Amino acid sequence: MICRLQRDDDQDLIYDVHRAAFASDLHGRLPAAIGSSPQFVPGWSWVIERDDELIGHGMASWTFLDLDGGGSVDVPHLSPLAVLPGHQRRGAGSALIGAITDAVDLAGAPFLLLEGSPGFYGRFGFQDARIHGVRFPLPPGAPAGAGQLRPLTSYRQLAGRVRYPPAFLAATTA
Ligand SMILES: CC(C)(COP(=O)(O)OP(=O)(O)OC[C@H]1O[C@@H](n2cnc3c(N)ncnc32)[C@H](O)[C@@H]1OP(=O)(O)O)[C@@H](O)C(=O)NCCC(=O)NCCS
Repeated sequence: MICRLQRDDDQDLIYDVHRAAFASDLHGRLPAAIGSSPQFVPGWSWVIERDDELIGHGMASWTFLDLDGGGSVDVPHLSPLAVLPGHQRRGAGSALIGAITDAVDLAGAPFLLLEGSPGFYGRFGFQDARIHGVRFPLPPGAPAGAGQLRPLTSYRQLAGRVRYPPAFLAATTA
């Protein structure tokens, strides 16, 4: 299994991975939408290959945090993450989360945010973001603890509300 940075010519295969894993064209289009937005960070988008086949992809990019005291800062947000259905539960997802977390940490960010299942991401050090004063615009029906935060080496508290960038919103609500 090889974990490496995404290349430009991976884009079609990345679409296929998310399309298949989420069974949704909307999710398939999300990486390209983020990739062509100002929030894209090339060093934060990783793929997994097994036997020369691209079987997984995950990325972090910038999102906005509207601070409780006023003003707004850019903070890293992990989304989307997917592994081809036939290759799941063999460590690819964990490897992607590790690579993305390390890359964001090396960039000096205080924390990494994501929206997802607490049961899955808790083992990677993600915590309920509300403990840290960060609130998410969660969709109806999402578990209250779905907004999560992974403190990093340069952690400092920044309390506020997450506001997703236009490219992310357009691709997830189109
Ligand atoms: C979530 C996902 C990326 C995990 O990738 P993966 O390669 O299967 O993950 P790993 O093999 O590294 O699994 C790590 C652990 O997570 C758990 N896990 C993995 N997939 C799971 C699933 N679908 N449901 C519940 N737990 C799961 C397993 O317990 C596993 O530990 P184990 O080895 O003790 O079984 C993959 O299942 C996927 O693409 N799912 C569909 C898309 C999705 O939901 N993405 C996340 C959106 S928040």
